Order: sequence, then C-alpha cells, then structure tokens
Amino acid sequence: MKTVAYQKCINPRCGATFDVGQTLTGCSQCGDLLDIDYNWSNTAVPKSLREFQNRWQNRRFPLDFSGVWRFRDLLPFAADAMICTIGEGQTFLQNAVCLGNHIGMWPGQLWLQYEGMNPSGSFKDNGMTAAFTHARLVGARRVACASTGNTSASLALYASSNGFQGIVFIGSGKIAFGKLSQALDYGARTLQIDGDFDTCLMRVREVAKQLGLYLMNSVNPFRLEGQKSIMYRILESLSWESPDWIIVPGGNLGNCSAFGKAFSELKTLGLIKRIPRLAVINAEGANTLHQLYTAGLRWNAGVIDDARIGAYYAEMDGKGIHPYTVASAIEIGRPVNLKKALRALDVMDGVTCEVTDHEILEAKALIGRFGLGCEPASAATIAGLQRLLKSQIISRSERVACVLTGHGLKDPDATVYYHTGINTKLARTPAAEETWGLRANKPLRVADDLAAIVAAIGADDFDSAAVGGYVPTAADLPFVEY
Ligand code: F0G
Repeated sequence: MKTVAYQKCINPRCGATFDVGQTLTGCSQCGDLLDIDYNWSNTAVPKSLREFQNRWQNRRFPLDFSGVWRFRDLLPFAADAMICTIGEGQTFLQNAVCLGNHIGMWPGQLWLQYEGMNPSGSFKDNGMTAAFTHARLVGARRVACASTGNTSASLALYASSNGFQGIVFIGSGKIAFGKLSQALDYGARTLQIDGDFDTCLMRVREVAKQLGLYLMNSVNPFRLEGQKSIMYRILESLSWESPDWIIVPGGNLGNCSAFGKAFSELKTLGLIKRIPRLAVINAEGANTLHQLYTAGLRWNAGVIDDARIGAYYAEMDGKGIHPYTVASAIEIGRPVNLKKALRALDVMDGVTCEVTDHEILEAKALIGRFGLGCEPASAATIAGLQRLLKSQIISRSERVACVLTGHGLKDPDATVYYHTGINTKLARTPAAEETWGLRANKPLRVADDLAAIVAAIGADDFDSAAVGGYVPTAADLPFVEY
C-alpha cells in the first residue's frame, strides 16, 4: 500500500521523516518540531472545496457531522474506524454588522468565527479529536497535557468520552475557574504545579517521557491537523472565498501555525486562489512572538536564527520576567510553536501586534455588548483589529475574520471584575485608568421596596446609540450563496 501520511521534521536542513505509527513530540534526529505531511498523489482529494458541502446531507453519519472530519480528505492520517469524535466543530462564522460598524469597518466586512460553541467551549476540541485519534491508533491509554485551562478541559472531555485516563498539569493560581471545573468534572487527574504554564509544559514533557504518557499539547503535530478545519469552516461560510485577513490570538502559537499549514496545503492542491493575510495578537505582558518578529526574526526558508531566540529567553530569565496578562489563556512566555508560527506568518504575509490588558477587556465588553460572549484571550482579536485599523495596516474596506477562541463563561471572573471593579487583580496602567471600564455595567443595589425598584429602573430612555447607534435589519445581512 502506498504511504499517504508521514511525520516530517520542519527543519529543511534535517527533513527526517517518520511513520505516523510512531509517538513523537519532536524530531528524534535534530529535536525540531514535526509536521504531518501527505503524499497527496496517493490519496483522493476532492477537485473542489464545494464537494465538502454535500457531506452535511449525510450528517447522521458521525464523521460527516463533525466539523473536523467532514474535511477528513484534508487530514488523511487515520482510517475512519480509528476516529474519536464527539461532534466537535459545529461552529459558525457570524457577520458582525453592528460591531464592525462600531469600530469603523465597512458594512458587512467583519466576521467572527465563534469557536466557543465547541463541546468543551473552546477551539481546542478541533485539535483534540485529531490527537485522540492518533492516540488510539498507537494504542495509548493515558494522555497528559500542561494547560492554561482550555487544553485541559478539552483533554479531560475527550479522555472521559473515549476511554482514556486524562492527566493535566496546571500552574498555581493561573487558571480560570470555568476551565478548572471542567477538568475536575470530567474526571482528569489534576495536578497543580508551583509555577506558570511554561514550567508546567517543561515538566509534563519530562514526566510523559518517563511514564510513557501520550502528550496532548500542541507540540503534538496531530493536534494541529484538526485545528486546520477552523479555516475550512471559515472558507465554507464565505462560499469558499478567502477573506482578506484572519486574526487570531497567540499563546503557544499552535492555532496560527495550523492556519498557515491549512492555507499552504489548499494552495498547493489548487483548491483556493488566494491566501488571506494573518494577524497574530499577543497580550502585551506575554509578547514573545511580537517582540521577536518586530526585531526581525523570520522563517527565512526554515533557516531560523536559533541563537537569537536563545538570547531572548536567556534575557527573560536573567531579568526574572514572567508573562502576565488578564487573558490567562495566552499567558505564555516560551511558545513552543514559535518556528511554525514564523512559517505561517511567512506563508500568509502576516503581521503581529500586541494589546494591553485594558484594551482586551474593553474589546471583550464591546463584543459582549453586541451579543457574543467570549473569554479575554479571544477578545484580543478585536483589540488587535482596532490597533491595526488605526495604524492602517488593515483597511476599513477589507474583509476580516476574527477567531473567537473560547466561550465567555470560561472566565466569568474577568467579566465581573470589569463591570464591578470588585476584587480586581488586573494590572492597570495610568493611561488606562482614565477610560477604565468604559462599558462597565454595574449591578445596582436596591432595597426590597417597590418604589425604590421602580426608581432604580428609571424612565424609558433606551437609546439605540447605547448599542452603537446602529440597528441592523435583515437587509444588512449579506446573502451567501453556496
Ligand atoms: N485562546 C484561547 C481561549 C486559548 O485557550 C488559547 C490557548 C489561545 C487562544 C492561544 O492559542 O496556544 O494555539 O496560540 N490555550 C492553551 C491552553 C495554551 O492550555 O488551553 P495557541
């Protein structure tokens, strides 16, 4: 039988290849990251992306229901019988007419890909279904990860529903309770380690090696194969036309790496004409990619300046700098997929951007005001878009798709802090102080007294300007023809 899928070192000077039946989290020759690569000529790939739409007619079949495996011809590394799916990827691209209008974009040009609708409430399920499929393929029984919360929630859910034991490492005081509660409820063995995410990831890699645990972090290349499908669904919603921009928050940089790979493959296969541009948004307090990219670090055909990366980390350690951001999901100083992210930025003619915690929370409140709940890390996309519009890197007339990576109920503390100011742990800069909580919607404390309650509600003075001064009608919604 001809080989379709294999693992391959991303370093072109090495380029070692490995069978998909091996469990690896790095190249055993040179230690670099691995990709899953395909001999496309040995497998049947639809001639047009439109062919995927027909799968939905057959959605009683679980693989055609899944928003990941509906596209299985584009990640053909496992036999159908091996696939672990729980119906992930039923997510939608919403045309954010009012929000777009509010931030000055042309009508109908802002789109939000809401990945909070996944079974565990974040985009991670797209990758977890693929990595669990590989774990089943290699006969693993125990699976582990380090996490800022969403990977662990997703791992715990897939482990409990597919007959694996889940083990998760989380940093102390670094996880939103919505996410922690999921890992506990789904029955994962949960270890709280003294340290941040970067420490946890180093540890879990060591422990996984020693105990033979299957590692589920995004150094696992199979995770990223599943995450490519987020881009397929965006294309599908736009009638298979690429938007001008994809905007995504950057943490461990797995997601943006997967997006770059998705588009590069689609172009190679002749399934798309144009690759959109990419904007990766870092939080200011966890901005390794942005700093290195701004300083000129590039993919450079795979010949990356390792010494420069090493010096950056040495300086970070020397100065005792630890990442800090209210967007705890992306509070990461040593993103493991840095090199793949550089490749994605190269393929997608990308940019990076950093935003303050203040900007993130304001953007989150704005997204909420227009009807979508997302967690702080996801709101970094809109905060980043606002900056990129201001600096005219993105134009008001361009079509932009922002990936809202996690559900608003993942981190209710951040939301309540923003609106009430109670118990806030958030860093405030003097400049931010002036406009702090621009959209704060404080609950009113009222006595249990009819007159007082009526007075507190006040007169009917609702003004549509309060929600952006723009009331959309059905006519505003573009009709997408499939
Ligand atoms: N948004 C959310 C909601 C996340 O949970 C994460 C990562 C990211 C964005 C960043 O994605 O790592 O692919 O660049 N969360 C990981 C976790 C690190 O452990 O849950 P990335």
